[in-house]
Amino acid sequence: MKRHSARINGIELAYSDRGEGEAIVLVHGFPLNRAAWAPQLEALSPSTRVIVPDLRGHGDSEAPLWHYTMPMFADDLAGLMDHLGIERAVMCGLSMGGYILFSFYGKYPERVSALILADTRAGADTPEVREGRFQMAQTAYRKGMGPVADAMMPKLLRTAGAVRNSGREETLRKIITSNPPAGIIGDLMAMAERPDSTPVLPGIKCPTLVIVGQEDVATPPDEAERMASLIPKARFEVIPEAAHLSNFENPEAFNRTCLGFLEPLSSG
Ligand code: MLT
Repeated sequence: MKRHSARINGIELAYSDRGEGEAIVLVHGFPLNRAAWAPQLEALSPSTRVIVPDLRGHGDSEAPLWHYTMPMFADDLAGLMDHLGIERAVMCGLSMGGYILFSFYGKYPERVSALILADTRAGADTPEVREGRFQMAQTAYRKGMGPVADAMMPKLLRTAGAVRNSGREETLRKIITSNPPAGIIGDLMAMAERPDSTPVLPGIKCPTLVIVGQEDVATPPDEAERMASLIPKARFEVIPEAAHLSNFENPEAFNRTCLGFLEPLSSG
């Protein structure tokens, strides 16, 4: 994946930039990096400009040891868009990427031409989930990324034998373990402290696509459908044969759904 980088908000951020025309920005989830969007970079770039950042603390971006927040990630995206001369874009986020986009929409609504919210939720963490974040941060700090990958893999992908044999698990494990613990711990703090974004939903004015993997247990389809029902112009789509990482596990269906949503936007 061709890598560019730029100094944004005092740190070096890496990103991919491919294709021409209207831009779409793909925001990865936890504990991933931009490599998790490889199938979308391939499929969408013939018809649109695709920007895929490594968020601070991930992949080839710098990972300052500090407290990260959703507004900080949102400011990094806005800074990158400024650097690239992109005023408005379709913003697409998966899971934590979606949490970041709720903050981005709150701060920069005029910069969002449309939203794709994949396998994400608007609600804040429960106390139990927050406690789990704390425990995972201790694991990442003491033992590194291997045990984080062990804990996350069953949640991200279905456990069917066919999936096991597809090579996706191995690729995903490499993506997760290539991230520095400092960034992953930063994510965990940012997610634990994020506010409830449900009140933001009725105010989302742009065309919105809500996508969820049929077998997503982390952000289940019924919850995603409820979220879509609160967004005035939302369309809701379920991706078959996929769990939480629907873009990665069933890229054909995910890409078809995105292209079907994007086409009428660019022609009208
Ligand atoms: C993600 O995929 O980004 C995570 O599952 C988000 C979370 O842990 O809440």
